[in-house]
Amino acid sequence: MQQDRIRWNAKYLDKAAPSAKPAEIVRQFCSLAPEGRALDIAAGTGKNALFLAEKGFTVDAVDISDVAMRKLSGRHPNAHPVCADLDTFDILREQYSLILNIRFLSRRLFPYIREGLVPGGILIFETYLEGHGEDYCHASCRDYLLRDNELLHSFLSLKIIFYQETRDPSRTDFCHIASLVGCKL
Ligand SMILES: C[S@@+](CC[C@H](N)C(=O)[O-])C[C@H]1O[C@@H](n2cnc3c(N)ncnc32)[C@H](O)[C@@H]1O
Repeated sequence: MQQDRIRWNAKYLDKAAPSAKPAEIVRQFCSLAPEGRALDIAAGTGKNALFLAEKGFTVDAVDISDVAMRKLSGRHPNAHPVCADLDTFDILREQYSLILNIRFLSRRLFPYIREGLVPGGILIFETYLEGHGEDYCHASCRDYLLRDNELLHSFLSLKIIFYQETRDPSRTDFCHIASLVGCKL
């Protein structure tokens, strides 16, 4: 969506060099995936994509922000920026040994993610949960927040390797996080 592109471009124009640190869940579980292609959904400036490229994966890093994709461009020969809107993006069947979805939610993509993995392929998914009580998020952003157990139920056709729902006490907003690692049988 054009509005998303404008909003995220503005954020990325503000940031200097991208943080080099990959998400902890990616660092911890990516070695479970067979060698091959990886897809980083909503990759941002590519900290996770670059980490995977350095590990030997050939990575398609997809994001709507052309600013973010330009920052990733040329940083590693095996990290390929793809500037695209995930509201309409199509993940081809059985292409990827590893799919990452970190801090982004598009429920439309769930079936494509399952189909996009090769047998034995690994999904690493971590994003925000709707809170409760004082953490409750106002209605406008609820579309982008998981409900309790939703992530687990959505990927039960995979072999679940790791699942947790936690609260990050260092944050005041978006402090609830769901994390899943699954393997396509
Ligand atoms: C919170 S950031 C997460 C970036 C990265 N996965 C990370 O963990 O650092 C969310 C990302 O989603 C991207 N995004 C938002 N809406 C999108 C859309 N419709 N299509 C593709 N990317 C989108 C934004 O540009 C942004 O880079």
